[in-house]
Amino acid sequence: MATKKTVKHKMPDPKKIKTVGILTGGGDCPGLNAVIKGFVRNAAYSYGWKTTGIEDGFDGLLDCRGHKLTPKEMSGLQLKGGTILGTSNRGNPLSYPVKENGRIYNKDVTPQIVANIKKMGIDVLAAVGGDGTMKIAQALFEKGVPIVGVPKTIDNDLDVTDVTFGFNSAVTIATDALDRLHTTAESHHRLLVLEVMGRDCGWIALEAGIAGGADVILMPEIPFDLNVICDHIQARKKRGKRFSIVIIAEGAYPQGGRKVYEKEPGADGTPGRLGGIGRWVAEKIGMLAKMETRVTVLGHIQRGGTPTTYDRILAMRFGVEAANLIARGEYGRMVCLKGRKIKSANIKAAVKKLKRVDPNGQMVKTAEALGASVGRPE
Ligand code: F6P
Repeated sequence: MATKKTVKHKMPDPKKIKTVGILTGGGDCPGLNAVIKGFVRNAAYSYGWKTTGIEDGFDGLLDCRGHKLTPKEMSGLQLKGGTILGTSNRGNPLSYPVKENGRIYNKDVTPQIVANIKKMGIDVLAAVGGDGTMKIAQALFEKGVPIVGVPKTIDNDLDVTDVTFGFNSAVTIATDALDRLHTTAESHHRLLVLEVMGRDCGWIALEAGIAGGADVILMPEIPFDLNVICDHIQARKKRGKRFSIVIIAEGAYPQGGRKVYEKEPGADGTPGRLGGIGRWVAEKIGMLAKMETRVTVLGHIQRGGTPTTYDRILAMRFGVEAANLIARGEYGRMVCLKGRKIKSANIKAAVKKLKRVDPNGQMVKTAEALGASVGRPE
C-alpha cells in the first residue's frame, strides 16, 4: 500500500526572527483586538520582533496588503470590538475564485500566498481564526509556512480548546436579550422566541438559555419534537405561567426535518447562511399551544461591541502565548485553554472535528434539571 510522503520543510531558527505577521480570518468576534495587543506587545517587549499586521485575513496575503503594528499603538485596544486589521470569511485560498481568459474558476492560490509572505519579509505568521482559518493555516504549514494559530469564534465549536474567546461575550449578549424578553413576555402573556447564532453547534443557545432561564432550549445536537415542546408549554400554563421563552440555535432543526437557511449552501461546497428556524418554530408552537408569539433574531449584535472582561483576558493571554510559541519554534501549533492554563495543540488535531454539545452531557442535564425542555423526543 502506498503511504503518503511527508515533506520536511526547513523552518526558521527562532533566534533569527526579525519580523512576525498577524492576521485575523473568518467572521469577527469580540476580543480579536485584544489578541493583537497581546501578540504585538509580547513580540516587541520580550523578543524584540517587529510585527506586520495583514489586512483582511488571507485576502491581504494575496496582494501583499499589510502595515507595521507598534506596541505603542496597542494602547487601550483590548476593549475595542471587531478587528483593526479587517477580516474576510469568503474565499478560501485552497479553492479561490479567479478570473482567467474571461472565465471564473476555483484555483489553489496558496503558492502565491507562500511567495508573498516571503516578499513581505514575514518570518513567521500568526493566524487568528475559527475552524476555516485553522484549516487554511494547516494547509500553509504543510506547504512550509512557519505558522501558529489562535482560536477564535463566538460559536465555541473549535475542538482541543475548552473555550474560544468571543463566546463569553456572545453568551452575555444573548442572556441580556433573554432578560429583556422575559419582562415583556410576562406582561403580554406571550410566547417569545429568540434565535441565536452558533452555526452547527448549540453552545450559545444552551449557556444563554441556562443563564437567562429560558423555558425551552433548542440546539442542533438534539433534533426537537414539537409535541414535546408544546406539552412543556401547556404544563407551564397549568402551573399559572402564562408566558414562555424559547431560545433556539440557528442550526437547530426538528426531528426528521432539516436546517433552515437564509441562503442555501452552494453546489460547489460554498457554505450556506443559516437563519429562519426561529420564525418556523414560533409559527408551529404558537398554533399548537394557542399562544400569541413574537420572534427576535439576535444576529450580528452577538458579534459586535466590547468584549467581556473574561474574553479580554483570555484573548490577551492567547496573543501573548502565540508569540511565546514562535519563540520556542513550535510551529504548526495553536494556543488553547485547558482548565485554567494556556497550552497548545497541533492545529491538525484542532480541525479534525467540531466540538459539539453532548446531548447527555452535564450542561444539558443541568438545563433539564432546572426545568427547561430541550425538545428531546420521548
Ligand atoms: O461563525 C460565526 C458566525 O457568527 C456564526 O454563528 C454565523 O452562522 C455566521 O458566523 C454568520 O456569518 P456572516 O457574518 O457571514 O453572516
